[in-house]
Amino acid sequence: MSNSLPSMLTPPAALHAFTPPANSQGLPHATGVQIRAFDAPLGAEVLGLDLSQPLDEPDFARIRQAHLDYHVLVFRDQRITPDQHIAFSRRFGPLQIHVLKQFQLAQHAEILVVSNIIENGAPIGLGDAGHFWHSDLSYKETPSLGSLLHAQELPQEGGDTLFSNMHLRRAVEGRRAEHTYLAKYAELQRRNPWRPNLSAEQIAEVKPVIHPVVRVHPETGRKALFVSEHFTTRIVDLPEDESRALLDELFSYVSQPANVYRHQWQPHDLVFWDNRSVQHLAAGCPDGMRRKLYRTTVEGDEPF
Ligand code: SIN
Repeated sequence: MSNSLPSMLTPPAALHAFTPPANSQGLPHATGVQIRAFDAPLGAEVLGLDLSQPLDEPDFARIRQAHLDYHVLVFRDQRITPDQHIAFSRRFGPLQIHVLKQFQLAQHAEILVVSNIIENGAPIGLGDAGHFWHSDLSYKETPSLGSLLHAQELPQEGGDTLFSNMHLRRAVEGRRAEHTYLAKYAELQRRNPWRPNLSAEQIAEVKPVIHPVVRVHPETGRKALFVSEHFTTRIVDLPEDESRALLDELFSYVSQPANVYRHQWQPHDLVFWDNRSVQHLAAGCPDGMRRKLYRTTVEGDEPF
């Protein structure tokens, strides 16, 4: 079976140019917000927008549409507070709270601190959040719609985040796979001894779930691969060896450079990705360099 797969996994269709919606007079909307596509298989920059200021409905609608079209949006130089980060994220849906409550930002449970910084002998955040390719919270019944990661402190070298486009022209349809938060937990603990043990309550919060291997994006109708190296453990109804071979093949598709946009962080970048369309990976930075970002996670739908 595995030999026939590469031909089934064809690159995503070329991205179509984003056309800004017209206002009620049929004229282009005139707030100065621009969407500029990257020269990459996905991703675009949003220009002319200050998220510390009120965002009107027409501009919000343009951002929602651009998010569906490009899957990863980069908002440069956003000097926003945690409350403004949360308020902007909430416009896309309810926010999800990460199971590792140890790494919530104080007084802001909706923000997960992603950081390699150790203070007073203890980690201030989840330093290996993106160590393996994944879609956020795919181990929940209702995985995430998208995540918004805001740069607080960046290393002088490295620290990039890679995004891979999961939209396929044709794929391995009809199959279902198991996702669990625990899939790589012990391995990450071995690599990073600071990673906390999970309490019985935390384990109960992340029971394994079954999702389709190829999901349909609930807003665009496009099909996307929905298995990941980080959280997917097996394909349901396949013998273990076939399940492993199929997953390995699918995982190698994710990291193919032709599908990937690599984000090199700039100070105060806010990056909003669509967890229904992409998977992501944190590339890491040299030991001893400080990196800190704040993440909110917007709840999505049960995959179908
Ligand atoms: C994540 O997986 O949410 C973190 C990504 C990163 O640290 O670049």
